[in-house]
Amino acid sequence: MSEEAAVNAPRKSLHGHWSSRMAFVLAVTGSAVGLGNVWKFPYVAGENGGGAFVLVYLICVFVVGLPIMMSEILIGRRGRRNPAATMALLGEEEGSTRRWGLVGVAGVFGGMLILSYYSVIAGWSLSYIGHSITGSFTDQDAAGISAIFGSIVGSWWTAAGWHTLFMALTVFVVAKGVEGGLERAVRFMVPGLLVLMFVLLGYSMTTGYFQQGLAFLFTPDFSALTPNAVLAAMGQAFFSLSVGMGAVMAYGAYLPEDTSITKASFAVVSADTFIALLAGLTIFPIVFANGLSPGSGPGLVFQTLPLAFGNMTGGVIFATVFFLLLSFAAWTSAISLMEAATAWLVESFRVSRVAAASVIGGIIWALGLGTVMSFNVLSEVTFLAGTLFDNLDFLTSNIMLPLGGLLITVFAGWIMCANSTSEELGGAGRLYRAWRFLARWVAPVAVILVFLNAIGVLSFT
Ligand code: TRP
Repeated sequence: MSEEAAVNAPRKSLHGHWSSRMAFVLAVTGSAVGLGNVWKFPYVAGENGGGAFVLVYLICVFVVGLPIMMSEILIGRRGRRNPAATMALLGEEEGSTRRWGLVGVAGVFGGMLILSYYSVIAGWSLSYIGHSITGSFTDQDAAGISAIFGSIVGSWWTAAGWHTLFMALTVFVVAKGVEGGLERAVRFMVPGLLVLMFVLLGYSMTTGYFQQGLAFLFTPDFSALTPNAVLAAMGQAFFSLSVGMGAVMAYGAYLPEDTSITKASFAVVSADTFIALLAGLTIFPIVFANGLSPGSGPGLVFQTLPLAFGNMTGGVIFATVFFLLLSFAAWTSAISLMEAATAWLVESFRVSRVAAASVIGGIIWALGLGTVMSFNVLSEVTFLAGTLFDNLDFLTSNIMLPLGGLLITVFAGWIMCANSTSEELGGAGRLYRAWRFLARWVAPVAVILVFLNAIGVLSFT
């Protein structure tokens, strides 16, 4: 151990620590599992032609996302501060510069931008709890469900109301700090969500279109794989795993010394991927059975699953519990999207967590109104990637997260010395060497190639 590392070993976070290894795994799982799995994965896969997209997605998850997640956690635990301060500190300590802190600062803003639209979609989920309880979905056809969806999304003040409620819930938890409540929420949310996903999967198998769904997701049609589809698959991998903006790094700062980062990352990545595939497998048979289009965009999940619930026995109860759990899943993700910014404000300006969370939450809430209106009054206002929402989504998922992830993995692989990283990853064995190879070569090169391909400099698809 170097002299510096010895001095740094007992470094403590200002914000408390996870009560156990399990608590950390649960919190990162809570961050990863969310709307990205159930809402976003199916519709982005649908828009990009299915099979080939899914294949690229899976490759990105394991060879790019996983090593970056490990990098984020190890950097976070070594620095034990908010991502901006941690990267600045380690940049200096590892003989580079404090400017690495800018990666953390970019992450602070990236997280806020993502949460601004994430909260709007979570608001849709909240409003579906009410519709489920009152039986609105019972015996509806596709047109009926679309009308219900339209009544929420199409009315800016309805959508804004639910967005406001969701932001308030998020600020409330973030203001209380990392240990209060979060662990408990995740403990029942993930298993509960899994059980309900299996109930829905059971329904999908009875539609008579399960084969088509399976084929759509797992038979690669490489002609559908445009450079932009490859970029979307990579962006989705970052988004779903919560990597690239320091959210996982912020959580790593609260991680006890003796926890295996490799094992924890592997568990989280596997669970996240499993749930996304489960959601896809459930949704596409319903899409085909009802003559809907796989490429119908952000409304896909909200227009398909209620059809299943409306047609099954006990549907009212299942639907209510499902949207409750989905909202919880979104909540535990949203908390992680705010953590980096909140920790940064607290540490930089010595304000209280309550004040920091409120200010950040207020800014995000206001930004979110842009997304609310992208689906109604401003739906005709389009530029570059589409509506304001489409642009926010493209900018954050497909540009900011991969770019942030690239810098993070370059930092962990090239700037930090092998002594520091192997110390965090529990020795220099085979797994460590595999991580280091992925972090130094595979992940950075993959991100750069996908970028170059998307802007047309290369053409490998
Ligand atoms: N991964 C979450 C989901 O799938 C969303 C999320 C939470 C996220 N924290 C993040 C995305 C940080 C990117 C970065 O719903």
